[in-house]
Amino acid sequence: MYDKNIEKVLISEEMIKQRTQELAKKISDDYRGKRLIMVCVLTGAMVFFADLIRQINIPVEVDTIVASSYGAGMTTSGSVRISKDIKYDISGKHVILVEDIIDTGVTLKTLTKMLATRAPESLKVCSLLDKPSRRKVDFEGDYVGFKIPDEFVVGYGLDYAEKYRNLPEVCVYRTQQEN
Ligand code: PRP
Repeated sequence: MYDKNIEKVLISEEMIKQRTQELAKKISDDYRGKRLIMVCVLTGAMVFFADLIRQINIPVEVDTIVASSYGAGMTTSGSVRISKDIKYDISGKHVILVEDIIDTGVTLKTLTKMLATRAPESLKVCSLLDKPSRRKVDFEGDYVGFKIPDEFVVGYGLDYAEKYRNLPEVCVYRTQQEN
Protein backbone atom coordinates (compact mmCIF):
# COMPACT_ATOMS: atom_id res chain seq x y z
CA MET A 1 0.00 0.00 0.00
CA TYR A 2 2.75 2.49 0.90
CA ASP A 3 6.32 2.19 -0.38
CA LYS A 4 8.55 -0.83 0.19
CA ASN A 5 10.18 0.77 3.24
CA ILE A 6 6.96 0.49 5.22
CA GLU A 7 6.87 -2.96 6.78
CA LYS A 8 3.47 -2.91 8.48
CA VAL A 9 0.86 -0.84 10.27
CA LEU A 10 1.56 -0.94 14.01
CA ILE A 11 -1.30 1.26 15.27
CA SER A 12 -4.36 1.79 13.09
CA GLU A 13 -6.31 5.01 12.62
CA GLU A 14 -9.18 3.54 14.65
CA MET A 15 -6.92 2.60 17.57
CA ILE A 16 -5.34 6.07 17.56
CA LYS A 17 -8.76 7.71 17.47
CA GLN A 18 -10.11 5.67 20.36
CA ARG A 19 -7.05 6.15 22.57
CA THR A 20 -6.91 9.88 21.79
CA GLN A 21 -10.53 10.21 22.93
CA GLU A 22 -9.68 8.41 26.19
CA LEU A 23 -6.68 10.65 26.85
CA ALA A 24 -8.69 13.78 26.04
CA LYS A 25 -11.45 12.73 28.44
CA LYS A 26 -8.92 12.12 31.22
CA ILE A 27 -7.23 15.49 30.61
CA SER A 28 -10.61 17.28 30.49
CA ASP A 29 -11.63 15.69 33.80
CA ASP A 30 -8.28 16.40 35.47
CA TYR A 31 -8.16 20.09 34.47
CA ARG A 32 -11.84 21.12 34.69
CA GLY A 33 -12.04 24.55 36.32
CA LYS A 34 -8.34 25.25 35.78
CA ARG A 35 -6.57 27.39 33.21
CA LEU A 36 -4.79 24.95 30.93
CA ILE A 37 -2.13 25.67 28.33
CA MET A 38 -1.27 22.82 25.98
CA VAL A 39 2.07 23.04 24.20
CA CYS A 40 2.71 21.15 20.98
CA VAL A 41 6.31 20.00 20.64
CA LEU A 42 6.88 20.49 16.94
CA THR A 43 7.25 18.97 14.51
CA GLY A 44 6.39 15.37 15.26
CA ALA A 45 3.48 16.01 17.63
CA MET A 46 1.49 18.27 15.32
CA VAL A 47 -0.89 15.60 14.01
CA PHE A 48 -1.59 14.07 17.43
CA PHE A 49 -1.91 17.53 18.99
CA ALA A 50 -4.50 18.66 16.44
CA ASP A 51 -6.62 15.57 17.05
CA LEU A 52 -6.17 15.60 20.84
CA ILE A 53 -7.14 19.24 21.48
CA ARG A 54 -10.30 18.85 19.41
CA GLN A 55 -11.47 16.09 21.75
CA ILE A 56 -10.87 18.14 24.90
CA ASN A 57 -14.11 19.56 26.25
CA ILE A 58 -12.81 22.26 28.62
CA PRO A 59 -11.33 25.64 27.62
CA VAL A 60 -7.71 25.25 26.53
CA GLU A 61 -5.09 27.63 25.23
CA VAL A 62 -2.45 26.38 22.82
CA ASP A 63 1.18 27.15 22.20
CA THR A 64 4.08 25.58 20.32
CA ILE A 65 7.73 24.90 20.92
CA VAL A 66 10.25 23.64 18.41
CA ALA A 67 12.76 21.13 19.68
CA SER A 68 14.90 18.85 17.61
CA SER A 69 17.74 16.54 18.33
CA TYR A 70 20.70 17.12 16.06
CA GLY A 71 21.01 15.06 12.91
CA ALA A 72 18.63 13.45 10.43
CA GLY A 73 19.40 9.84 11.28
CA MET A 74 17.42 7.23 13.16
CA THR A 75 18.66 7.81 16.69
CA THR A 76 18.74 10.75 19.04
CA SER A 77 22.21 12.23 19.29
CA GLY A 78 21.74 13.37 22.87
CA SER A 79 21.69 17.13 22.43
CA VAL A 80 18.44 19.02 22.03
CA ARG A 81 18.08 22.33 20.24
CA ILE A 82 15.19 24.68 21.03
CA SER A 83 14.73 26.83 17.98
CA LYS A 84 11.35 28.35 18.88
CA ASP A 85 10.24 28.99 22.43
CA ILE A 86 6.65 29.23 23.74
CA LYS A 87 4.94 32.63 23.67
CA TYR A 88 3.12 32.32 27.02
CA ASP A 89 4.40 33.32 30.40
CA ILE A 90 3.57 30.02 32.14
CA SER A 91 4.25 31.21 35.67
CA GLY A 92 1.39 30.00 37.87
CA LYS A 93 -0.35 28.22 34.97
CA HIS A 94 -1.15 24.58 34.32
CA VAL A 95 0.85 23.28 31.36
CA ILE A 96 0.78 20.03 29.39
CA LEU A 97 3.53 19.36 26.88
CA VAL A 98 2.30 17.18 24.03
CA GLU A 99 4.73 14.88 22.22
CA ASP A 100 4.50 12.17 19.60
CA ILE A 101 7.03 9.83 21.19
CA ILE A 102 9.21 9.38 24.27
CA ASP A 103 12.26 7.48 23.09
CA THR A 104 15.54 8.02 24.96
CA GLY A 105 13.70 10.63 27.07
CA VAL A 106 16.37 13.25 26.40
CA THR A 107 14.05 15.70 24.61
CA LEU A 108 11.38 15.77 27.28
CA LYS A 109 13.82 15.68 30.15
CA THR A 110 15.49 18.78 28.66
CA LEU A 111 12.22 20.59 27.91
CA THR A 112 10.57 19.89 31.26
CA LYS A 113 13.69 20.93 33.13
CA MET A 114 13.84 24.18 31.19
CA LEU A 115 10.12 24.99 31.56
CA ALA A 116 10.08 24.06 35.26
CA THR A 117 12.43 26.98 35.93
CA ARG A 118 9.57 29.32 34.88
CA ALA A 119 7.46 28.28 37.86
CA PRO A 120 4.32 26.80 36.26
CA GLU A 121 1.59 25.76 38.70
CA SER A 122 1.88 22.28 37.20
CA LEU A 123 3.75 20.73 34.28
CA LYS A 124 2.78 17.39 32.77
CA VAL A 125 3.54 15.47 29.62
CA CYS A 126 1.19 13.72 27.22
CA SER A 127 2.75 11.49 24.57
CA LEU A 128 1.03 9.33 21.99
CA LEU A 129 3.85 6.78 22.01
CA ASP A 130 6.38 5.54 24.54
CA LYS A 131 9.36 3.24 23.92
CA PRO A 132 10.46 2.45 27.50
CA SER A 133 13.17 0.01 26.39
CA ARG A 134 15.13 2.86 24.76
CA ARG A 135 15.42 5.17 27.76
CA LYS A 136 18.81 6.79 28.37
CA VAL A 137 17.55 9.15 31.06
CA ASP A 138 14.94 8.60 33.72
CA PHE A 139 11.65 9.99 32.38
CA GLU A 140 7.98 8.99 32.55
CA GLY A 141 5.05 10.54 30.67
CA ASP A 142 1.90 11.42 32.63
CA TYR A 143 -0.58 10.62 29.84
CA VAL A 144 0.67 7.95 27.44
CA GLY A 145 -1.23 6.55 24.48
CA PHE A 146 0.66 3.37 23.61
CA LYS A 147 3.78 1.69 24.91
CA ILE A 148 5.52 0.21 21.88
CA PRO A 149 8.45 -2.17 21.28
CA ASP A 150 11.81 -0.98 19.99
CA GLU A 151 10.86 -0.66 16.33
CA PHE A 152 11.48 2.40 14.18
CA VAL A 153 8.08 3.97 13.64
CA VAL A 154 6.86 6.58 11.17
CA GLY A 155 3.54 8.16 10.28
CA TYR A 156 0.91 10.19 12.14
CA GLY A 157 3.47 12.98 12.50
CA LEU A 158 6.60 10.86 12.92
CA ASP A 159 9.22 10.97 10.22
CA TYR A 160 12.24 9.29 8.76
CA ALA A 161 14.41 12.07 7.28
CA GLU A 162 11.28 14.29 7.16
CA LYS A 163 9.23 11.75 5.15
CA TYR A 164 6.08 9.81 6.12
CA ARG A 165 4.67 12.37 8.58
CA ASN A 166 1.43 12.41 6.57
CA LEU A 167 0.63 8.70 6.90
CA PRO A 168 -2.62 8.34 8.88
CA GLU A 169 -1.39 5.35 10.93
CA VAL A 170 1.72 4.61 12.98
CA CYS A 171 3.77 2.25 10.81
CA VAL A 172 6.98 0.25 11.22
CA TYR A 173 9.77 1.44 8.97
CA ARG A 174 11.83 -1.36 7.44
CA THR A 175 15.31 -0.85 8.77
CA GLN A 176 16.70 -4.04 7.18
CA GLN A 177 16.34 -4.22 3.44
CA GLU A 178 15.19 -7.54 1.97
CA ASN A 179 17.50 -9.34 -0.46
C1 PRP B 1 11.56 13.19 17.97
C2 PRP B 1 10.21 13.18 18.67
C3 PRP B 1 10.56 13.62 20.06
C4 PRP B 1 11.96 13.09 20.26
C5 PRP B 1 11.90 11.87 21.10
O1 PRP B 1 11.80 14.49 17.57
O2 PRP B 1 9.30 14.04 18.06
O3 PRP B 1 10.56 15.01 20.17
O4 PRP B 1 12.48 12.78 18.97
O5 PRP B 1 13.18 11.32 21.24
P1 PRP B 1 13.98 11.28 22.59
O6 PRP B 1 13.05 10.80 23.66
O7 PRP B 1 15.06 10.27 22.28
O8 PRP B 1 14.55 12.62 22.86
P2 PRP B 1 12.89 14.92 16.49
O9 PRP B 1 14.07 15.48 17.19
O10 PRP B 1 13.14 13.79 15.54
O11 PRP B 1 12.18 16.12 15.76
P3 PRP B 1 10.76 16.20 15.02
O12 PRP B 1 9.70 16.30 16.09
O13 PRP B 1 10.86 17.43 14.22
O14 PRP B 1 10.58 14.96 14.17
